Amino acid sequence: MTASSKDAIAERLAEARERTLELIEPLDDRQLNRVYSPILSPLAWDLGHIANFEELWLVQTIGGREPLHGDLGRFYDAIENPRRTRGELPILRDAELRAYLADVRERTLDVLDGIDLSDDAEDPLLQGGFVYEMLLAHEHQHNETMLQLLQMVDGYEPVRVDAEVAAEPAPDGAEMVAVEGGEHTIGAGPEGFAYDNERSRHTVALAPFEIDRTPVANGAYVQFMESTGAEPPMYWEHDGEGGWVRNAMGRAHPVDPAYPVIHVSWHEADAFARWAGKRLPTEQEWEAARAGVLMLGQVWEWTSSDFLPYPGFEAFPYPEYSEVFFGDEHKVLRGGSWATSRDVIRPSFRNWDLPERRQIFAGLRCARDL
Ligand SMILES: [Fe+2]
Repeated sequence: MTASSKDAIAERLAEARERTLELIEPLDDRQLNRVYSPILSPLAWDLGHIANFEELWLVQTIGGREPLHGDLGRFYDAIENPRRTRGELPILRDAELRAYLADVRERTLDVLDGIDLSDDAEDPLLQGGFVYEMLLAHEHQHNETMLQLLQMVDGYEPVRVDAEVAAEPAPDGAEMVAVEGGEHTIGAGPEGFAYDNERSRHTVALAPFEIDRTPVANGAYVQFMESTGAEPPMYWEHDGEGGWVRNAMGRAHPVDPAYPVIHVSWHEADAFARWAGKRLPTEQEWEAARAGVLMLGQVWEWTSSDFLPYPGFEAFPYPEYSEVFFGDEHKVLRGGSWATSRDVIRPSFRNWDLPERRQIFAGLRCARDL
């Protein structure tokens, strides 16, 4: 890597930070500190965690420097501090929090200036700029989590208009595409940035199947609700005339039947698929079909798969990113939502959550055997 790629990293770090600060620009300190939901952190925690993760990896680990606030980092450890407890922690707030974000960034850029980022750099964290890619992805992913919470903030007015765009209409909800059976390649190759859980690349044998070309739309979901008595998605309310509105950020908009359904749990997604005479795709089917003609990037899509390691999995750079979540408790989501940075969306990316969760921007797409 050359000096220009260091410049490129610095520029991308600045872009990510600009997005983070834009998200909170319309908010006051009281709103940043407020706990809106036991399953979402107060925004002040997310902000401090973004800065602390950066300090831990880019300043302390890579730069060998001492942290700015002693062992404050333990309050920003996502595993040690469950979301429901984060509002009570002695974390940085208000002006101190803003100063911490800026001070860490200044030190990050100073460290970046003095390191070797060549592809034969000895430290695997630096090879191909891995640790910087990880940091960028981390900040982008926390922006999406912050947007989940911002749905609950009455009167929130996004600075950037695309922070509010729900999704593109899904024109042909029922159309399915066939995918041939046989060997399919799954996972990220050795080159480029990917998380440990996307590796190693391997082949799987799949039976032939077909899969919806587009995510399930609101109109179909309303039919499912009417015929089964299923609960409406999170944030839906009756409009008083037999229809539905979506009430988020304190504003109600009519539910558009052509748009993908969003904010449903895995259990609801699974029930919808069965009702439709289909099933959820496995994550392997999803990734195999991705090479075809799926329309993506509107909603995260629940799959039927548990979050499990691929063959030859090795935790890198730390087991708390994915390894501690492996098992049958979490279901895999694929794709990416309107709130996901395009820098994060890639065919091999695996997201995961508990099957009862609805606060994430998740919908579904159905599959069936051929
Ligand atoms: Fe994080």
